[in-house]
Amino acid sequence: MIRGAVVSAPLSRGVVARYVAGEGVDDAVAVAAELRTTNRLATIDYLGEDTTDRQQAEATRDTYVRLLEHLSDQDLARFGAAEVSVKLSAVGQALPQDGDAIALENARAICEAADRAGTTVTLDMEDHTTTDRTLEALRALRVDFPWVGAVLQSYLHRTEADCRDLAHEGSRVRLCKGAYKEPESVAFQDGAEVDLSYVRCLKVLMAGEGYPMVASHDPRLVEIAQALANHHGRSPDTYEFQMLLGVRTAEQKRIADRGHQMRVYVPFGEDWYGYLVRRMAERPANLQFFLRSLVGNG
Ligand code: FDA
Repeated sequence: MIRGAVVSAPLSRGVVARYVAGEGVDDAVAVAAELRTTNRLATIDYLGEDTTDRQQAEATRDTYVRLLEHLSDQDLARFGAAEVSVKLSAVGQALPQDGDAIALENARAICEAADRAGTTVTLDMEDHTTTDRTLEALRALRVDFPWVGAVLQSYLHRTEADCRDLAHEGSRVRLCKGAYKEPESVAFQDGAEVDLSYVRCLKVLMAGEGYPMVASHDPRLVEIAQALANHHGRSPDTYEFQMLLGVRTAEQKRIADRGHQMRVYVPFGEDWYGYLVRRMAERPANLQFFLRSLVGNG
């Protein structure tokens, strides 16, 4: 019921538009072009997870390929200016039979398209039951496409060790806090512990030989990341900051204006509802704003 109200209320479309580029490939390309005008880079995610049939997985793959072609045509992809983020579950990982193999095959086709466009692919990280399989896919893809990156989540106990494994030359690691509800057995439950883990992970990544991508809106963590980069004598082209579309936009521009690489995560697609709900859960103030907009006072 709520979903129906959200989808149909005209004012709520404005709220959706803050976080989601739109429903079509052209909408995503337009947002990437707009970001370019303020020196911000983009990573584009075609929304849709837990794909339950093979056709849907292949349609998602084809949308990514089309997106990469459009980005290339508009000269937005070269040197990784606009890249793509892929959830393996959206390209088949959760299929009951041969899910891992199907997801890998589809991800490979997306990587080939990215290669042609002169840009990169980053594998999003989903709930902890998929972490090993996603890192396995990363290893397999990197044999042919050594620029493929992956997300690690600081709320997982294992992540500091994963950072050590992935802090090698050429390795692109996007570090975030983590957005799924995880059990105590695998994840820190307390926000302060998640933050401390994030700092430990940052220390490993910034001291290492890889390319850290600092995906957080948390001002303290952004500051610590910068201090660690300075401490290790990193030049601004050896790491980057990343934030979500619509979140702390002024800060995104400020970071880019200071000459740092600032990449914005741009989701698009018809299946935007689940993504939006996660963003609302992160920030109750957004939810209030959103509900007000539904009753016409937003
Ligand atoms: P935190 O949630 O503590 O927020 C810090 C501050 O940022 C808040 O106090 C507020 O000011 C602001 N803020 C945060 N969220 C906001 C919002 N929605 N609206 C307005 N203000 C907000 N997760 C995952 O599990 N797998 C993944 O693959 C990814 N991928 C990913 C890519 C990129 C580029 C980013 C930035 C994030 C992800 N995430 C993710 C999501 C991530 O795990 C996390 O849930 C959010 O980034 C929020 O965590 P913060 O680090 O921003 O800190």
